[in-house]
Formats: sequence, structure tokens, C-alpha cells
Amino acid sequence: MSNQSTPTGSATTLVIVVHPELEKSRINKRLTAELERRGKVTVHRLYETYPDEKIDVAREQALLSAHDRVVLQFPLFWYSSPSLLKKWIDEVFELGYAHGKGGDKLKGKELLIALSSGGAQSMYQAGGFHNYSYSELLRPFQQTANLVGMIYQPPFIVSQIREVTDEQLEKYATDYAVYVEG
Ligand SMILES: Cc1cc2nc3c(=O)[nH]c(=O)nc-3n(C[C@H](O)[C@H](O)[C@H](O)COP(=O)(O)O)c2cc1C
Repeated sequence: MSNQSTPTGSATTLVIVVHPELEKSRINKRLTAELERRGKVTVHRLYETYPDEKIDVAREQALLSAHDRVVLQFPLFWYSSPSLLKKWIDEVFELGYAHGKGGDKLKGKELLIALSSGGAQSMYQAGGFHNYSYSELLRPFQQTANLVGMIYQPPFIVSQIREVTDEQLEKYATDYAVYVEG
């Protein structure tokens, strides 16, 4: 399968899927497949596009510029994203493109995080096992959006993935596609 599927028509949503083992995954694989099946958004599989992790910054910036909404979809790894997404932001949101003089290319675009998490929602609160809420843990993404002038949207979260039944996963996939397609 190609690492990027682009719809024909006027869709303007770019979904960047960041999972180091997407084919072996359950949740992110299903969510991604649903988006690709419906064909209304551009799906960009980052680890498969860059197996050597050498990011083509100009290509990524062109992709971003061609879309109005950006979805970053990933499994929660150590309260953050898989490392390639951090590298992608470090390199793609560069001075003169995303911030600084002339760096207004992302301004006004929406940013939406979609994540899966092994822990239960109830663990992600003060006094819970993980102590902090998803919103608190996602602050670096939120503030990055603020800095580059993007509009941060409420995240889409699949928690406690081991308890998600096949039936529930189908509902998540549909709800996710509807939310992402906006
Ligand atoms: C390296 C690593 C770190 C992880 N860290 C967290 C974490 O901080 N919090 C959490 O809830 N789950 C954590 N998990 C569980 C993953 O989030 C979970 O396996 C993933 O969301 C499952 O999605 P998938 O079926 O698409 O692979 C971690 C998993 C791995 C492999």
C-alpha cells in the first residue's frame, strides 16, 4: 500500500499518522484504514514514508500548505508522541515558515490531536494513576499551535485500548472519520 492517499475533490484535511509499527497495531491501523476507505482526507503515514527518518522538509511544508486542517494521529508513548513526530515538528515548523519573520504559513489552520492510550481515562486526572489529564500532557502541542497561529481543536482519544471490543472499535473508527472530516 502507498504511504500517502490523497482524495480527489476539495478535501482539505491532512492526517499525519505516526506509528512505528502501524501494520502490527490494532487501534491506529483501524482508524487509518477507515479514513482511507472513505477517501475524504489526505492520509500521510510518516514512519512508512521515512523509514530512515530523514524528513523531506520541503515536501512536508508543501503538504501542510495544501490543507486547512492538520490531524496528528499517534499512540501515546511515555505521555507524548512517538519520536518521529517530535523530529517532524522540530524540522518542519522552521523559522521563516511556521514562526519568525515571514513565518505565517500555518496561521489559521486547525490542529487536532488523535491519540490512543493504554491507560484508562480515569487514570488521567489528579490523584489517578497517571496524575495528569490528557489535556495537560498535550500542552506542548497546544502551545506549539498557539505559537504558529494554528487553532487547537479538542483531541479525539481512544483510551484503555485493551478493553476496546471489536464492536466498539468499529464505532470509534466511524466517529473518528466523521470528526476528522469536519
Ligand atoms: C514505548 C511505549 C510507550 C507507551 N507509553 C504509554 C503511556 O505513556 N501512556 C499510555 O496510556 N499508554 C502507553 N503506551 C501504550 C500505547 O499507547 C498503546 O499500546 C497504543 O495506544 C496502542 O495503539 P495501537 O493498537 O494502534 O498500537 C505505550 C506503549 C509503548 C510501546
